[in-house]
Amino acid sequence: MCDLIIIGGGPAGYVAAERAGHKGLSVILFEKKVIGGVCLNEGCIPTKTMLYSAKTYENALHGDKYGVYGENIRFDYGKIVARKNKIVRKLVAGVESKMKLNHVNVISGEAMIQSQNSDGIKVTCNDESYFGANLLVCTGSEAFIPPIPGLEQTDDIILTNREILQLKEQPASLVIIGGGVIGMEFASLYNSLDTKVTVIEMLPEILGSNDFEISAMLRDIYSKKGIEFYLEAKVVKVEGNKVIFEKDGKTETIEGEKILISVGRRAVTKGFGLENLNVEMFRGGIKVDERMRTNIPNVFAAGDVTGFSLLAHTASREGEVVVNNLTGRADKMRYDAIPGVVYTNPEVAAVGETEESAKLKRIEYKVVKLPMAYAGRFVAENEGGNGVCKVLIGEKFGEVIGVHMLGNPASEIIYGACMAIEQEMTLTELQEVVFPHPTVSEIFKETIFAF
Ligand code: NAI
Repeated sequence: MCDLIIIGGGPAGYVAAERAGHKGLSVILFEKKVIGGVCLNEGCIPTKTMLYSAKTYENALHGDKYGVYGENIRFDYGKIVARKNKIVRKLVAGVESKMKLNHVNVISGEAMIQSQNSDGIKVTCNDESYFGANLLVCTGSEAFIPPIPGLEQTDDIILTNREILQLKEQPASLVIIGGGVIGMEFASLYNSLDTKVTVIEMLPEILGSNDFEISAMLRDIYSKKGIEFYLEAKVVKVEGNKVIFEKDGKTETIEGEKILISVGRRAVTKGFGLENLNVEMFRGGIKVDERMRTNIPNVFAAGDVTGFSLLAHTASREGEVVVNNLTGRADKMRYDAIPGVVYTNPEVAAVGETEESAKLKRIEYKVVKLPMAYAGRFVAENEGGNGVCKVLIGEKFGEVIGVHMLGNPASEIIYGACMAIEQEMTLTELQEVVFPHPTVSEIFKETIFAF
């Protein structure tokens, strides 16, 4: 019997396996597809790789702003996709070698939970039986397909994040249903590559739970770049290439060579025998406590399968919490300093409370907002660029409770704000931190001093 069986090799499963193996636990990791999960194979990494090609093309097109000129600037979509596939293969191989290094027994196949008895938890795979003292479920999530008539059509027009990444040819036009994170990242990618992009969002603003003002600024930037947005628009039907929606009491039709569905994801809790253990569920995901324990003492869950905070970095940390608890450290999961990034160009990065969420929770706060141009490095590297940094502090103790940025490279700066929130740092404490100069990160310091 091994110490830990893990089902699912995404950022929750493979990180937990690596940490557990490193700490000397015997680990079996089951993966039915390719190790790395959605994030590495059909999410975070492939999109960021393609977005970088798109950004490079855009920068080359606008090089004249920096005194740099080129002729016949163009891109090869096939090469962009081929490079993406190469990067994914390389990183998958990297994860595989980490598994070997940490003595994790990776089994390729579909695992099925059978029972729990005195031999531990029994899991079968490829006609073999395996027993574990503990089980960690990391089966992730899948794209949610809403019950809109026509979405069930089986041609290759309607795509999710998975299929769109496999396209061999660039679509001339793309209609995106859902202006959340996935929708906006693909909107950014294809807009940069000159595809005609339309985004249909049912809420009054894109990017749902993000800072409302920053989301509106991003939408404005992309409207100017040519994306057409329909907000508060309800899709009622899809017919072939046509998306039919209602807005302001009128019925409208938009056509796209391809249609992307990005209206959220759902936990994968069926098809691997979870019901054989009577694990309790909550809002469509596996119910866990702050130590990622389910209602069954030796069964844990981590990652998207819990149904909330569907982010790769949340998943990895949750996996680590499980391993720490199994190896004698009473670790707890906290969700108030989890960063969120939207890899558009410019990027959006945020952590902690927004003004909207603080108001809902009746948290008294002060807020200061500065243009990114207060950081000299931003001005040097973003000719004509626009952006903002917004910091929220608690009224009572003066601690940082939220930071929101629009501007490159916000994704690389935000962790500083995560540390400030995680450590409950006050303005005075942060003012004593020395930031490297000149960096865009200094915008955080400038904003802190503006209170
Ligand atoms: P999402 O929840 O971020 O956005 C879905 C959007 O679709 C919402 O704005 C919603 O109002 C809208 N919507 C829902 N039904 C609709 C309808 N019938 N018509 C029009 N609009 C509709 O979900 P998304 O973008 O699919 O992403 C799924 C998950 O993956 C998210 O939890 C996200 O955090 C995660 N993710 C994170 C990334 C990152 O961290 N950079 C990148 C990609 C995904």
